[in-house]
This record gives sequence, C-alpha cells and structure tokens, in this order.
Amino acid sequence: MTNPFAGKNVLSTKDFSKHDVEYLMETASKMKDMKQDGSKVLSNKIMASMFLEPSTRTRLSFDAAMKRLGGQVVGFSDWEKSSFHKGETLSDTLRVVENYADVVVLRSKYEGAARYAASILEIPVINAGSGSQEHPTQAFLDLACIKEEKGYIDGLTIGLCGDLHYGRTVHSLVPLLARYDITLVLISPESLGLRDEDKASLKESGVTFKEVELLETVIGDLDCLYMTRIQRERFPSEEDYRKVRGFYVLNQDTLKGASDQLLLMHPLPRINEIDPGVDALPQAVYFKQPMHGLHVRMALLALIFDIL
Ligand code: NCD
Repeated sequence: MTNPFAGKNVLSTKDFSKHDVEYLMETASKMKDMKQDGSKVLSNKIMASMFLEPSTRTRLSFDAAMKRLGGQVVGFSDWEKSSFHKGETLSDTLRVVENYADVVVLRSKYEGAARYAASILEIPVINAGSGSQEHPTQAFLDLACIKEEKGYIDGLTIGLCGDLHYGRTVHSLVPLLARYDITLVLISPESLGLRDEDKASLKESGVTFKEVELLETVIGDLDCLYMTRIQRERFPSEEDYRKVRGFYVLNQDTLKGASDQLLLMHPLPRINEIDPGVDALPQAVYFKQPMHGLHVRMALLALIFDIL
C-alpha cells in the first residue's frame, strides 16, 4: 500500500480520506512497540516546533514523538522571546526556520495560519491548532483512542458536549467521524452549537445526528461522550463567556443514567466540566488520550518522512 502521508502537509482532517485515516491508525498502533525499541529512524531529521499560542500536550507530545524516533527538535513555546515580539512577520520567520528544519509544526491563534505557512514553505507543515478552526492531529488521536478503547467505530453513538462552536478539536473531529457509520448527539447551549457548515457536511455524508441542550436527557443513549472546554479566549466578550461558563459539569450524578461501558473522553485541558471525582472510573480515558496522541504523532512524522 502506498503511504498517503509521504511528504504531505497535515492541515485539515478534511484533506484525508477514510483509507488515509485507517492507514494512520494502523501505523499508530505499531508505534507502541517502536516507542520501546529505541528506534532511530528519524536520526537525521529536525522538527521546528513553533507554538504561538499556549500548549502543553500538543507541543510536548510532538517533541516526545520526534525524540522517540531519534529526531531532533528546535523551536520555541515562548513566542514573546522570539522575534515576533520585535514585530517580525510570520512569513519572514517561517522562511528563516525552513533553513534549519525538515518539518514545521505550527500553532497559531489565526485561522488559516498553517495553510498559509504551507503555501510559502517547501517543507511539510503540520497544523498543531489554528484559531477555532482546525486541530487535525488532536482529532486523529481522538479517533485512535475511540478505536483502541472500544475496538471499533461503526455502530457507535457518540456525544460531543460543550463548546461545539469555538472548539477546534470538534471542528476537526466531526469530518473524521462522518466517514464512519455512527450516530452523533450534539450537546451544547444553543449559542455554542455546531457551526452550520459542519451540520451541512454531516447531512451530506448521511450521518444521523441530533442537537440537544441537556446532557442528562441523552446520556443513557451514548457509547462515547467527548466533553470539551468552553473556549473562553475565543468569545467576543467576557460577558458572553459568563453566560455559558459552567454550563456542563459531568459528575457521578450526571452519570447515573449512563451505561457502565460509556467511554469518557476530553481533549484537555479540563477546567470544571468534568468533576475530578469521575477520574477514577475505568471508562474515564481522558488521561490515556495523550498516550494515543504520542503514538499518532510518531506515526505521522514517520509517514511524512516515509521511513517505515
Ligand atoms: C485543545 C486545543 O488546543 O484546541 N487542547 C489540546 O490541544 N489538547 C483543546 C482546548 O484548548 O480546549
């Protein structure tokens, strides 16, 4: 099978077919062993890690993924110490960074930043989050987590809960899920509903979905619940944020009507939407999701450099 990621940019989940995604999932599950092998397949490669917005998991897991495969990392997470702070443009910075690295991992608050970077660079660009628009590698790892933890995807009823409007992980995950035979339950306050363009593409893909506001009314129907953080920093005003702050809190009470097989996920960071009392439940896998993130990012880097 030809590797569909060789030399490619990873900008949006919409750019990859179901076959491509399955190929990535299979490669990611092989990474569990490679992680232990001390494999040095990327020993002559350098990744530039450019995080112009806060990040913990995404940045550290890309770093770890590259290093687990023997590669090197240059870059910054504190953009105030980079020349951006002096007023250098993104385009100038990228042109310079291209001389030092073989792949760029970019996070920015601007929608379209990664696609713009890809349009001016010769080396592959991986989108590590662009505004409220895309976070493709998070969506790949979320899908890998569902597949590994449940064993299958087709036939599942999946609830997405919280900020479905500004959350970029949801925006990237929905097109991936739409490639499978699933039912989606969209749980959000009315003002934070899934964007119209996403609903239109769900309809086009023939995915059955419904929108509700109250989690309790649907929790018993779900096989998987993907909680999300209300994206405070993306609201037009603090007042708008305050209206929906704390809208959902998943706790033992909310879970009363749920199946004991219900998989509980969250891309993290969590603020207050999951009570820490839920963490010890065996079906709460949100602290295992980052492990899938490591495997998926190792797989993506290995595939982009086509070394497997
Ligand atoms: C997400 C993000 O940055 O969009 N975090 C992450 O990468 N795991 C989710 C969020 O910030 O709410």
